[in-house]
Amino acid sequence: MELLLQNIGLLATPTGNSARKGAAQGNITLIENAAIGIEAGRIAYVGSAAGKELKAERVVDCGGRLVTPGLVDAHTHLVFGGWRQKEMARKLAGESYLDILKSGGGILDTVRQTRAASEDELFEKGMLLLDAMLAHGTTTAECKSGYGLSVEGELKQLRAARRLAQHSAVQVVPTFLGAHAIPPEYKSDRKAYINLVCDEMIPAVQAEGLAQFCDIFCESAVFTPEESRYILGKALEHGLVPKAHVDEIDPIGGAEMAAAAHCISAEHLIQASDAGIRAMAEHNVIACLLPATSFCLDKSYARARAMISTGVAVAVCTDFNPGSSPNLNIQFPMYLACLKYKLTPAEVLTAVTLNGAAAINLSAEIGSLEVGKQADAVIWDAPDLDYIFYRYGSNLVRSVIKNGKIIF
Ligand code: NIG
Ligand code: FE
Repeated sequence: MELLLQNIGLLATPTGNSARKGAAQGNITLIENAAIGIEAGRIAYVGSAAGKELKAERVVDCGGRLVTPGLVDAHTHLVFGGWRQKEMARKLAGESYLDILKSGGGILDTVRQTRAASEDELFEKGMLLLDAMLAHGTTTAECKSGYGLSVEGELKQLRAARRLAQHSAVQVVPTFLGAHAIPPEYKSDRKAYINLVCDEMIPAVQAEGLAQFCDIFCESAVFTPEESRYILGKALEHGLVPKAHVDEIDPIGGAEMAAAAHCISAEHLIQASDAGIRAMAEHNVIACLLPATSFCLDKSYARARAMISTGVAVAVCTDFNPGSSPNLNIQFPMYLACLKYKLTPAEVLTAVTLNGAAAINLSAEIGSLEVGKQADAVIWDAPDLDYIFYRYGSNLVRSVIKNGKIIF
């Protein structure tokens, strides 16, 4: 074997090649005194070290620490120009997220700053952000466009994302989000913008192979469920798998729309209805929940327990973006998922590994520590799983392995 992780105090991992739902979400494998053998970037051995004579060219002593799969952040907006710290004062003065957007700020402020940035600038900034994510345990990150809102602007963001995928140690999975807002130049003709997304952007993204998924912001004052369904239908015709930001602020039937539109995942879901949650369970839509966004917007929290008991697989992600979630450390939403959603540490571990991987169609490759999977792992400065949901507020990652290489 090329690499051996030995003296693992506790190995914690979900198992399987698809999302885990219901009681299975909290049913993880725990192995004390474990070892992981790695060969050609893949896991060749995982299990108890007791009585085993394991040999490798390179041996890492984990010092009795906790080891989990590499963390999968299945929802980020990590390619953008500028920041939005100036919104803080407006928020504190009582303006809502949608009020700021309606006045031409919020997402539209980042659109201006992203349009002004070159592809190289977006790439270089993205590399720094990915390095920081990696240091907090993220080995795979989804990455949405949505701050260009023009054909060239969206393609520029996705081309930067493609370069990030080629150069970063973090595996980057791009998503097209042209329907993130109506840009100012189409303010009085939303139909024309929707046609631009469907007739020009989606075919161009497909032609360059720039994204695997198409997302949309289905929300009051943004895109209606009917418009969302239409755009996602066009995306599907062009081979892009649908995803949707739904029911974040107002309950407008977004979860129901996501189920009807064949979405692989639905995001936010703070206001999702019972019928919407049932529809998601029936259509195997994964819930990508974003508790750090609830925290940042000072809103209520999605009903994660109801989702799990209804049979919806739950993933937890950062939603890292310059507005509603400027935090890229996935350990923070992990902690909030425990504290606010009342998920168990085991359920949250599945949410940020195997279920996150399933939300970006990668659960056969990553998301668990099992023979044959890509060797992505985190060595934690923690003796057990409970500890990382208790010592919140500081980075508890000791070391990160991606594709069998020690990269942090
Ligand atoms: O998921 N809600 C829509 N989109 C992002 C926020 C984008 C922004 O504010 O820049 C989200 O929260
Ligand atoms: Fe988002």
